[in-house]
Amino acid sequence: MRVPFVDLKAQAGSLGATYGSLLESIVGRAAYTLGPELSQFEGEFAAFCGCNHAVGVSSGTDALKLAYLAAGVSPGDEVILPVNTFIATSEAVSHIGARPVFVDCLADTANIDPTLVEAAVTDRTRAIVPVHLYGQPADMDAILAIAERHRVPVIEDACQAHGAEHKGRHAGSMGLAAAFSFYPGKNLGALGDGGAVVTNDEDVARQIQLLHNHGQEDKYTHRVIGYCDRLHNLQAAFLSAKLPHLDEWNDSRRLAASRYDVMLADVAGVRRLSTIDNVVHVHHLYVVYVDDRDRVREALADAGVETGIHYPVPLHLTPAYRSLGYAVGDFPVAEALAKRAVSLPMHPHLSSAQTEYVVEQLARAVS
Ligand SMILES: Cc1ncc(COP(=O)(O)O)c(C=O)c1O
Repeated sequence: MRVPFVDLKAQAGSLGATYGSLLESIVGRAAYTLGPELSQFEGEFAAFCGCNHAVGVSSGTDALKLAYLAAGVSPGDEVILPVNTFIATSEAVSHIGARPVFVDCLADTANIDPTLVEAAVTDRTRAIVPVHLYGQPADMDAILAIAERHRVPVIEDACQAHGAEHKGRHAGSMGLAAAFSFYPGKNLGALGDGGAVVTNDEDVARQIQLLHNHGQEDKYTHRVIGYCDRLHNLQAAFLSAKLPHLDEWNDSRRLAASRYDVMLADVAGVRRLSTIDNVVHVHHLYVVYVDDRDRVREALADAGVETGIHYPVPLHLTPAYRSLGYAVGDFPVAEALAKRAVSLPMHPHLSSAQTEYVVEQLARAVS
């Protein structure tokens, strides 16, 4: 049996005709940038996130950069973020000329360890960035309390968490602003790159509106030096067509994850992550930990099961960040997780036969 890691073709299957007619309509009107489809999607996505504002932008990375700028992050400032995340979380800090300050993660959730955040705060800290990794919200009560004590804004990296919730609050609605990615493989993915900043703060929304479109208030009135970071109108139309399916797709991911959980509970040699109380987890990824990870992945590949690693190198050890001066041993939990992590196939179209087959093959590989 072949079990793909993600299955974007299955998702496109049912929506292909809709995409065709949206393309035809937009080409017919030549409505490529800042069109009505974009405004419509921004309204729909803001409502989905329980926020007053959403601004469509060109990627999750740019959403982070713009949110950091709107939060006041400037060159030389420090931004606290987990060391166990995709590089975009810190790359966007570096793009501004600010310094990423890494914090280790918790072994049982792989999310940022809030007990280590406070010690990382200095008088240069301009933002704290929890990442809702793999679709599970970080411990937001603890992080928001630290942020409030030090009067530092929280920017959520919700790029893997469309639809997740923490104690009834939507991912993206808990900090000053949040970044989402619509990279095709995300829980809500465009047919190319895309992203959004969501916020309940009117000033932040206004700043992002300015910054993402050349600093323009009106055409050729440039209030600030901005960027060309717009979400294409066509991508916004595709995203509006997909958004009504997102809850159902997230339910399917949860079902697949619960099947994995039940079956893997009996497999010695495979450690699963836990889900904290009072969260809605949207399982962007399903990550387990095994010894001899590369051999296990090879055995799974031979059996037709595609896997990934999220992430093989913690950010402090990636060559791009050598200049920050971190060393092996600085973040022991993330370093240990990086050596043993395997991401199993996870997408809304995973059948129960496929999850059974994955577990069967994994059990054989670790025995
Ligand atoms: C946690 C996290 N942050 C940021 C990003 C960046 O998103 P994009 O690829 O849309 O720039 C991603 C995408 O993989 C991500 O997983």
